[in-house]
Amino acid sequence: MRIDILTIFPGLFEPVLGTSIPGRARDAGLVSYHTTDIRDFAKDKHHKVDDRPFGGGPGMVMMCQPIFDAVAMVEKHDPDAPVTRILLTPQGIPLTQLIVEDLATKERLLIIAGHYEGIDERVIEELKPIELSIGDYILSGGETAALVLIDAVVRLIPGVLGHDQSADEDSFSPTGAGGERLLDCPHYTRPREWMGREVPDVLIGGDHGKIAAWRDIQRLRRTEQRRPDLLHDESAAPPVR
Ligand code: ADE
Repeated sequence: MRIDILTIFPGLFEPVLGTSIPGRARDAGLVSYHTTDIRDFAKDKHHKVDDRPFGGGPGMVMMCQPIFDAVAMVEKHDPDAPVTRILLTPQGIPLTQLIVEDLATKERLLIIAGHYEGIDERVIEELKPIELSIGDYILSGGETAALVLIDAVVRLIPGVLGHDQSADEDSFSPTGAGGERLLDCPHYTRPREWMGREVPDVLIGGDHGKIAAWRDIQRLRRTEQRRPDLLHDESAAPPVR
């Protein structure tokens, strides 16, 4: 997978994408990351990419032209590969594991990290990106949201996680008997007793059937207690293709 990121803060990405699983995925040749500075496409000598909003109001709005030109340049690389355009914005569809799974199957992602008060609506209409939000709160910019998205997507690319790290039993994976996306079960490691707290006996016994059954019950119980909405979430079902 090739991932392009259009941003006014390209330096934010390498420290994160070069580390841990995103870094290993790149080292293994399973993904490549390419940042493009939107400022490089500004037409004036001050590299201005934003301006005051028509109609007044606080903040600045990112202008159409630098973003549009940056997208056009980036998409010239390997023009035959289909590109999935994504804009990170608090007004987007809430990101879920189901969406992440779908994006992990794509050949190329082009991610636009918005900034300031937003982006001129006309460039969004023209580029028609998938608009995604990582939650109902406001970040200073789309960069950290883009990093969240990339981390979540890259770990699902086949071969990125080793067998012992499989994502199949993670929270929000369809582990329920009816394909419900449940929270993960509790986990324990050595020592067997810590500050008077014991590891559940079933995990010590070595009976894999019993351990799997116990984990299934724990996943369901946790989800009922903490996220009952997940048990009735129609949108979490696999899309009909
Ligand atoms: N930009 C600012 N806040 C955001 C959010 N919650 N999700 C995605 N992009 C954002």
